Amino acid sequence: MNTEITSSIHYVGVNDRHKHIFEGLWPLPYGVSYNSYIIDDEKVALIDTVEVDFFPQFLANIRSVIGDRPIDYIIVNHVEPDHSGSLPLIKKYYPEARIVGNKKTFDMVRGYYNVGTGDDIIEVSNGDTLQLGKHTLSFTMIPMVHWPETMVTLDQTANVLFSGDAFGCFGALAGAFVDADMNCDIYWDEMRRYYSNIVGKYGVPVQQALKKLAGVKIDYICSTHGPVWHEHIARVIEAYDRMSRYDTDRGVVICYGSMYGNTERAAEVIARAAAQAGVRNIVMHDVSRSDHSYILSDIFKYDTIVLGAPTYNNGIYPQMQALIDEIAERGIKNHRLAVFGSFTWAGQAVKKILEANESRMKFELIGTPVEIKQSLNAETEAGCEALGRALA
Ligand code: FEO
Repeated sequence: MNTEITSSIHYVGVNDRHKHIFEGLWPLPYGVSYNSYIIDDEKVALIDTVEVDFFPQFLANIRSVIGDRPIDYIIVNHVEPDHSGSLPLIKKYYPEARIVGNKKTFDMVRGYYNVGTGDDIIEVSNGDTLQLGKHTLSFTMIPMVHWPETMVTLDQTANVLFSGDAFGCFGALAGAFVDADMNCDIYWDEMRRYYSNIVGKYGVPVQQALKKLAGVKIDYICSTHGPVWHEHIARVIEAYDRMSRYDTDRGVVICYGSMYGNTERAAEVIARAAAQAGVRNIVMHDVSRSDHSYILSDIFKYDTIVLGAPTYNNGIYPQMQALIDEIAERGIKNHRLAVFGSFTWAGQAVKKILEANESRMKFELIGTPVEIKQSLNAETEAGCEALGRALA
């Protein structure tokens, strides 16, 4: 099988179409790839590994490139186990290979796998280089994209960036490795969903990483998930730049919880009024039915959020409380918020959503919050219509 990205850089990653949820949390309708690469020079370097369940295929992929030759260096850009899980087994098959990482890398791989405990390591710092023969590699620390130890490796000779999770996306690879050789349609939405779910909290570190890499000539971006970027590098960098600045398109994401349909009817009135007032991009999510993975992705796409929920156990409806936590944890900025809710005998949901906004989400509030007692009446329906118009 031809695994070439360039004449001396090969794809040796694997596809995971088995797992239903990534990190035990996020759906994988198209699967996910764990990308790993070999630079075949006088010295052989392996860049990252793959999740351990896929080790037999991974080893076969490596051997198809280097045959019986040894691996000289295993470069660990990122220790999260979807990329380091095969490290201890690779070390068993290639005991002479030296692990290349930074100080934080070795603290983690020792704790996870009890490897890198001897003199089989090369500890690198920001800007250090490693010579493979023709290829010179340099290392740049990009902490918190996605863990504190994360670094990227630049092949200065081939202008190839091995970027770890940065520029990655959900979606297994269907035959081709490089974007120029495939239809990329599914990957753009899967990139936003991946970013918003996994990396979304770390907008500032992603911005710092982008600044460090600005001006570097890059012909290929080899991330740890999804396609190798070659034809679409500018689009991918722009997407990550926008997402990490929480820069969005104009549009409304209406998220509601509803037990018996009364809060849902209010959501419908708000959506109808917004549509009649000219809002074209409207997405609606029942927070108990839509996986929050997709809600978060839409919130990273559009600039206005509407949250509506019934009062439950004298607080916010649980699935709405969970969504509020997920939004707040990601430090999402540059959004507007409208609020509505309902109760039967003691109203708490609207008050507590507003308190959560004041203390945690900190979005600009738009319109007048609407609180519905039991079911919509003429007054609260008019309030929902006004709220919908305010969204426009
Ligand atoms: Fe794909 Fe942060 O690991």
